[in-house]
Amino acid sequence: MVESALRGAGDAGFETKLYNLYELDYKGCSSCFGCLLLGGPSHGRCAMRDDLTAVLDDILAADAVIFGSPVYFGGVTASMRALCERLWYAGLAYRETDKVLYSRRIPVKIILTTGIPRENFHTALNQSITDTMNMIIGPVELIEANGTWQFDDYSKYDAPMFNVEERMKLRDELFPKDLQRAYEMGRSAVM
Ligand SMILES: Cc1cc2nc3c(=O)[nH]c(=O)nc-3n(C[C@H](O)[C@H](O)[C@H](O)COP(=O)(O)O)c2cc1C
Repeated sequence: MVESALRGAGDAGFETKLYNLYELDYKGCSSCFGCLLLGGPSHGRCAMRDDLTAVLDDILAADAVIFGSPVYFGGVTASMRALCERLWYAGLAYRETDKVLYSRRIPVKIILTTGIPRENFHTALNQSITDTMNMIIGPVELIEANGTWQFDDYSKYDAPMFNVEERMKLRDELFPKDLQRAYEMGRSAVM
């Protein structure tokens, strides 16, 4: 889905960069408060230094950002969550007004994939990630691919509850439409 969105952005003339978070070594926010330290070298930026540093720098320099994650137990993956903690916390100050430290709003596109074949089933997740991204980073568009094809061969796995015929239908008929939606979202990412 993310690759499809990036193809769309590329076809619209934008330079794109893809990070696979599972290839990177980093942790979530450690409450070091370096990002809040007045006059400090990292005020308004995550002070932790690891593989995520370049990703956060690229996000904050980008014209638009596309985030993709499968839904794991009603949330995003642990690595996406860790990224969000560090991206979000560094952009916020404990103030009554003007609490967002980032000087620019960046369009945010979010792609979620779910095993459950229903759109917006994880309502609380969709709402909270949209609200927080919108408050701290920029205007959000979220799409989902639901009822995704999980196993190469369903007969090999302990997963008898699935109707494989129905799943196959979703894979062959619905998923190509989801890929197209991701492509279109990428094409219009910077607007
Ligand atoms: C650890 C784990 C937890 C999952 N939890 C959920 C869940 O809460 N809701 C859901 O709809 N699907 C859940 N799934 C299914 C995945 O979201 C689904 O297979 C997704 O499409 C995987 O993304 P991918 O195909 O991009 O790898 C879970 C899968 C795994 C491996």
